[in-house]
Amino acid sequence: MRTNEDLLSALPADGTLSGRTALVTGSSGGIGEAVARVLAASGAETVVSGRDRGRTRAVADAIGAAGGRAHALTADLGAEPAAVRAFAREAEDALGGRVDILVNNAGVYPGVATAAVTDDEMQALWATNIRAPHVLVAALAPRMAERGSGAVVNVGSWMARVGVPYKALYPATKAAVEQLTRAWAAEYGPHGVRVNTVAPGATATLGTASSADTLAAMTKATPAGVPVRPVDIAYAVRYLVSDEAAFVHGATLDVDGGLSATRLR
Ligand SMILES: NC(=O)c1ccc[n+]([C@@H]2O[C@H](COP(=O)([O-])OP(=O)(O)OC[C@H]3O[C@@H](n4cnc5c(N)ncnc54)[C@H](OP(=O)(O)O)[C@@H]3O)[C@@H](O)[C@H]2O)c1
Repeated sequence: MRTNEDLLSALPADGTLSGRTALVTGSSGGIGEAVARVLAASGAETVVSGRDRGRTRAVADAIGAAGGRAHALTADLGAEPAAVRAFAREAEDALGGRVDILVNNAGVYPGVATAAVTDDEMQALWATNIRAPHVLVAALAPRMAERGSGAVVNVGSWMARVGVPYKALYPATKAAVEQLTRAWAAEYGPHGVRVNTVAPGATATLGTASSADTLAAMTKATPAGVPVRPVDIAYAVRYLVSDEAAFVHGATLDVDGGLSATRLR
């Protein structure tokens, strides 16, 4: 099987999204990086974002070196709503005044016993995983609706619909994201803005690097048999924001190697 890096470094350029602009949150690494690189390879002018300036710049540079158009913006999405709104305006300005595609990917996922979750972790989970997507959609979707077109993809999780020990609040935030998706599909869909969720399974990223053994054990008995590659999530996002998904509204697309649909063990 080809590796994530192998696939990302040789993305065929296609014009599926040419003329469109995209903001991908949490794209300085992991799943978001793959999404930004795939959307840019398909012709979308893309804002890459994260808190780490060096990694954010490096992803934008890699897109540029591959022939795509990208801008690097740093922001802490766990910050107060006013700062997240300012970030939305900054992204819009960088993209010539128009965001056509918003991918709410940035997220945090601490894994500890319920009784050990700290106040800071609770705050970060709420602010980053739920409040920031809400603020960004509130800032950008009405303008998409005015133009009569746009697409939003929220990144959920396979954990949103099963009970997993030591992860109670995190999956609850992702269940909220799925519900926000359905509500926004109802609110903005009639105005040409499609909103959907991609729910990744156990995926090998920077954030899960220290749990590689757990990831391998979790996916061994799935149909795919191995962890998801970030690029697999990115292909699904590209589909959902493309015209090929014109009739897909409010859906959750599982890209988890069969983890949530099967119990092979
Ligand atoms: N990996 C999995 O197994 C898995 C499974 C299901 C769902 N997901 C979801 O997929 C998304 C991406 O996960 P991942 O594994 O790719 O994560 P990751 O490797 O930890 O990367 C997270 C990304 O989000 C950014 N980010 C985190 N907190 C931020 C904040 N407060 N402000 C701005 N940016 C922030 C990080 O940027 P900086 O470091 O530059 O701040 C980074 O680019 C998350 O929503 C996660 O819940 C992941």
